[in-house]
Amino acid sequence: MSSVTFDAASRTYVLRTPSTCYVLGLDDGDVPVHLHWGPELTVEQAVTLPREQAPPASSFDGRRAGEELVTEAGARFDPPSLQIAFPDGVRGVDWRHLGHTIDGGGLTVRFRDALHPFEVDLHYRVHPDSDAVERWTTLRTEVPVTVLRCDSAAWSVPALPGYRLSHAVGGWSAENGLRRVELAVGETVLTSRRGLSSHHANPWLMLDGGDATEEHGEVWSGALAWSGSWRVTVTHTPSGHATWTGGAGHEGLTWRLEPGEEWTTPVFSGVYAPDGFGGASRRWHEHVARHVLPVPDEPRPVLYNAWEAVGFEAAEDNQKELAALAARVGAELFVMDDAWFGGRTSDRAGLGDWWPNPARFPQGLTPLIDEVHRLGMRFGLWVEPEMVNPDSDLYRAHPDWVLHMPGRPRTLLRNQLVLNLARQDVADWAHKWLHKLVGEHGIDFLKWDCNRAFTEAGWPGGPDQDRLWIEHVRSVYSIMDRLRADHPHLRIEACAGGGGRTDLGIMSRTDQVWTSDNTDAHDRIAIQRGFSQIYPARAMAAWVTDSPNPLTRRRTPLAFRFHVAMAGALGLGGNLLEWSSAELDEAAALVAAYKDIRPVVQFGTQHRLEYGVQHTFGDRVVVLAWRGPVAHGAPLVPLRLRALDPLGRYRDEDTGRVHHGAVLMSSGLAPDLPRGDYASALVRLRKENP
Ligand code: DGJ
Repeated sequence: MSSVTFDAASRTYVLRTPSTCYVLGLDDGDVPVHLHWGPELTVEQAVTLPREQAPPASSFDGRRAGEELVTEAGARFDPPSLQIAFPDGVRGVDWRHLGHTIDGGGLTVRFRDALHPFEVDLHYRVHPDSDAVERWTTLRTEVPVTVLRCDSAAWSVPALPGYRLSHAVGGWSAENGLRRVELAVGETVLTSRRGLSSHHANPWLMLDGGDATEEHGEVWSGALAWSGSWRVTVTHTPSGHATWTGGAGHEGLTWRLEPGEEWTTPVFSGVYAPDGFGGASRRWHEHVARHVLPVPDEPRPVLYNAWEAVGFEAAEDNQKELAALAARVGAELFVMDDAWFGGRTSDRAGLGDWWPNPARFPQGLTPLIDEVHRLGMRFGLWVEPEMVNPDSDLYRAHPDWVLHMPGRPRTLLRNQLVLNLARQDVADWAHKWLHKLVGEHGIDFLKWDCNRAFTEAGWPGGPDQDRLWIEHVRSVYSIMDRLRADHPHLRIEACAGGGGRTDLGIMSRTDQVWTSDNTDAHDRIAIQRGFSQIYPARAMAAWVTDSPNPLTRRRTPLAFRFHVAMAGALGLGGNLLEWSSAELDEAAALVAAYKDIRPVVQFGTQHRLEYGVQHTFGDRVVVLAWRGPVAHGAPLVPLRLRALDPLGRYRDEDTGRVHHGAVLMSSGLAPDLPRGDYASALVRLRKENP
């Protein structure tokens, strides 16, 4: 059950999720103060939560941390969530409570500034089937104001003797690097200034008291649903409190709101888990499946993508040859990647000219699409609608359509520039050709790529330049939303040079994310582990590619590559033309095995194990175990399985051996791993007489 209750006498709002509770209240000055985020409380208990502020310790101190949105008014010295400059020179918002609305699991608490006709709504939403608390903020003004910062929400966690911060960092081909570090006293900024959520930091975080483990201990976490620049500032005060505030945009961006305007931030959700990092992740997976992904319950197809096989050489002949082999191994969706259009024969030209390259596709795309359909697969296509090469007809016709600043060079990254989708004419152009392309060819799947960061983000002659950082992203969202509405069968994979745009915002209008351009199965284990902290397996696109891996030159067995990729939405990306007949047969058997376990992996509950992962769905349990390079003498401990029925008997579907649930959870399962480096195993268990 979830519910929202208001206790008028104490001015307390109590939000309950199925197993957690979030409480805020109003203090004597109408300030919305944070009171509790953690285990369940009754309303009777919640109204007794202390909210009095101790007097400042000195004339250099201010209010204690712990407000629902930190403004600049009065003695507040924490990083502000809301920085507003009024035309009369006044800064900050002095809260005056206007009332609230409660609508099922939704709560909106309304405020205005004490002096100006300027309103702030704090929004909360809880669901009956998710432990996430969703929060966002709306501003409304009747005077022109400058917004210097408008975060979605500020979050507070209880006072603990110390704090540990978990977050993900990385770079291109090294996304989702999990870091778990002591939280420094002071301010820690997690941010992207790249116009994308970025490979370098992912917009989520977890805090614990330093004592949580994978399965035990309290964890507080947050994830921002935004695909552009963002900033989260985590504060650990010398007096021992921890809070974070976060939202869209990086430091230094400002924009004006005109009288009558309303501004709504993205959603910043929070999850409290009493059962460790794994418990936090499982709650996020459930939330993403139930309230973020547009089509959560549809099995993700096994796809084949020829990018690593042909690079910029895509042409009708090689795509048809690869399609035949993809069908042979069991692919259900054939995706043609880059270089099918315009003069795109390398990354130097053609982006923006979205018609089939006549030399490579003399009869257009129809013959290839017909062949893919004849082979029994759906057809998908790569696009990069936000970008242009200067060497393109589009750029020659519209050099003013890109982000640029007068007198500054237009910095090229991957030989391309960013189209300013904040401009309505550019957004209309992008929507028009995509709508036509998808409609005319009945395209089932788009891989929507975005291969560079923003620079010189200006819009000469345009309104309020910094807004383009926000409006560009909103425009991407709106084009995707319109395409999905007009083509209900269309599925979209989010990609930004691999996983540079992995976040809850893009996931709410796409079906999966291309996790990384690094397809080395050994490296992927860590990348996927980082991904799984927040995002579910069904949204994690994972390909099996060639050995040696084109990026790292590492050699790994085909089964290892499969077993790692089978932990997500399986795809194949190798050059099948160079695979032996035996390898193709082995691949076909492994694809068939994946189709068998697909519901368990994609729709089940995930437990990260020491060197593998367990997925549980109904009476089925799937364990994927991977061992990297072998160190002589290093013991291989059995994998202790989780959350089984201790009294249940589990039959190994491949060997017929029967295990007791209690034994699998205490002594563990010793997977039968072949000798040598990069050994792996798939174990399929089914509970008998469930
Ligand atoms: C970056 C993507 O991550 C790759 O998979 C591929 O689509 C290339 N772009 C194509 O340019």
